[in-house]
Amino acid sequence: MPGFLEMKFPLPLPQQMNSQPIGIFDSGIGGLTVAKAISTSLPNETLIYFGDTAHMPYGDKSNDSIRYYSEQITNYLYQNEHCKCIVIACNTASAAAYEYLRDAFKNVIPVINVIDPIIEEVIAEDDIRRVGIIATKTTINSGIYQEKLQRRKSTLDFTALATPLLAPMIEEGFYNDKISHEIIYSYLKQPELQNIDALILGCTHYPLIKAEIMDYYHHKIKVIDSTTIVANKVKKILEIEGLLNDKREKADKFYVSDYTDSFEKTTAVFFGSKIHLELKNIWQSK
Ligand code: DGL
Repeated sequence: MPGFLEMKFPLPLPQQMNSQPIGIFDSGIGGLTVAKAISTSLPNETLIYFGDTAHMPYGDKSNDSIRYYSEQITNYLYQNEHCKCIVIACNTASAAAYEYLRDAFKNVIPVINVIDPIIEEVIAEDDIRRVGIIATKTTINSGIYQEKLQRRKSTLDFTALATPLLAPMIEEGFYNDKISHEIIYSYLKQPELQNIDALILGCTHYPLIKAEIMDYYHHKIKVIDSTTIVANKVKKILEIEGLLNDKREKADKFYVSDYTDSFEKTTAVFFGSKIHLELKNIWQSK
């Protein structure tokens, strides 16, 4: 399989671009929290969602593997589904693969990550002086949030903690219960996450446990997740690029690279309404 830079892209005709779908991907079904926000904010748009459940969790994979999976999925969404833009609805893939994908698709279609919109939000808030970040191991170890915050607002104090159990826990359907409560609280009790004004939820699975996190802090700090912030960013970029659709013509599609009944059940909660998951093995077909 050639890399993007060696491939020739069959560009859709410009006049057809607006009605093409928005491609969204995540390691699993956590990115549906972002997809839901995009669907609410842009009801005329068709979404093609790809959850790479066969390779989930990305959070403990190497950068090379994540970049490889992200490249293959983006390639599929562009080449086969003719998506007009790609949203990397996964912090871990945004950390490992965003710059590569952005450069590969330069002047082709916009690629949007979930990290930069959060950084913009945090640096714009004057009352945030010390911010905590929780995310997967790969995202925290990449130092991407820390580096971007430092570069954009050097007066900001930040602290980061890898919380590797949270995404698989949520993906398996554990939230708002005794098990999730124990695990969440044992992470939030760590010294890194004390005396903060805001907490960045640096994983697209975490909106599902946002209420539990806010309860822990007695609603006294800002808890920032990517859902609405990223949806607003997508809207703005499509507006700037003249790519907004004015009438929805097709139904959304939701693909997973591995199917289990538990995914099907959990998706309804992530997306806020029942959706049908289709198994799509893009690796087998190559
Ligand atoms: N949802 C992914 C993220 O935003 C992480 C889940 C995983 O580890 O695969 O980072």
